Amino acid sequence: MSLQCTGSRSSPAVSLRAYFQQALADCRQLTLNLVADVQPELLKRQAHADFSPVSWHLGHIAYTESLWTAEHLADRAGHANYLRLFAADGLPKAERENLPDLLEILAYLGEVRSQTLKALSTTDLLAYASLWHWLLQHESQHAETMAMVLALHRLEEASILGRSPQSPPPDSDMVYVSGGESVQGSNLPAAIDNERPAHSVSLAGYWIDRTPVTCEQYRQFIEAGGYQQAQWWTPEGWQWQQAAQVKAPLYWTNASTFDQHPVCGVSWYEAEAYARFVGKRLPTEAEWAKAAGWDALIGQSRLYPWGDSLRDECNYGQQTGATTQVGQFVHTSPYGCKDMLGNVWEWTDTWFAGYPGFRPFPYAGYSQVYFDQAHRVLRGGSWATPRWALRNSFRNWYHPHRREAFAGFRCAAKER
Ligand code: AVJ
Ligand code: FE
Repeated sequence: MSLQCTGSRSSPAVSLRAYFQQALADCRQLTLNLVADVQPELLKRQAHADFSPVSWHLGHIAYTESLWTAEHLADRAGHANYLRLFAADGLPKAERENLPDLLEILAYLGEVRSQTLKALSTTDLLAYASLWHWLLQHESQHAETMAMVLALHRLEEASILGRSPQSPPPDSDMVYVSGGESVQGSNLPAAIDNERPAHSVSLAGYWIDRTPVTCEQYRQFIEAGGYQQAQWWTPEGWQWQQAAQVKAPLYWTNASTFDQHPVCGVSWYEAEAYARFVGKRLPTEAEWAKAAGWDALIGQSRLYPWGDSLRDECNYGQQTGATTQVGQFVHTSPYGCKDMLGNVWEWTDTWFAGYPGFRPFPYAGYSQVYFDQAHRVLRGGSWATPRWALRNSFRNWYHPHRREAFAGFRCAAKER
């Protein structure tokens, strides 16, 4: 179903209600599938000091849902006893291992969900649709973070990288995007506060990689000693690298089976250093967005690179459980780029900031507090991004030293 939920014969409000019922159920199924085969003890364990255990995310999903449905829509009190445990500003991360058992958290999720469905059946969807869209994308994003934490747990044992067969290598060239006006952002009902409002931007012409940088390409940087050579790094990047002493991407596997997979698990600093190593640079966010969706013929942005409805034209939604080869899908963006969505998030050169006319929703702490010149924008979603958070205009953000996200990058270059 498309994000716009149009085309129903019944009244828009009725079909929207049905859309949310189905989407909430589907999204929950995806969340629960993540933990179905994992040992309960592992769910409580922290994989990394900066990331909460998987169980905490489950509780936090329920807690957030209760806050925004029970309290805000139906005027019922939320669960004060869980507030300290599962609010983002509640329990410090270091103490998030002493959580209730999985069964209790699952019961909490179920209990909140039945309240939520009651609230959904009576809510004024014309007034509150954006809140319901937000809720769905909140769970989607935590489902991806849970997949990251599980990947970090698995790193201790073996590689998480995929299983797709070898096939001919993709085009490794660049495409040219001509200069001019394009539209960035979105005013769709499902658009998150930081995607709004849609606005026009003016760019000079540029080149951008047809696909994300592959492991085969990145290996040249590793083998040439790029990690040990200051010349490729920005001053902050080199400072970070001297402390971190990184030698390869976090989810790196040297096996040639993965040569055509995108690099996954790099910091922004590593991406930036590689780009310099090959004489290129990272694209700005606006350049990425134009390459992903701008249709110059009709003067409009596409919701997805290949058109306006979600299709299986990329690796998303935790269906494959890993990265896959770049360039294997048939359809491209209007400019001919592949894998703009899915597979790996892509670092951009742009600091996360509000678009002109930004208004916080549903609370300032969601996006606005991260407009701090300390987070870089990532675009495009990964293999682990649920469908509700997958679209050309969706913006993610992390500190430039963060390597745990399923993030890679593609490079850009100026007119030549
Ligand atoms: C946009 C993925 C960085 O997980 O911290 C979830 C999304 N915000 N709950 C995060 C988010 C509040 C956010 N990221
Ligand atoms: Fe959250």
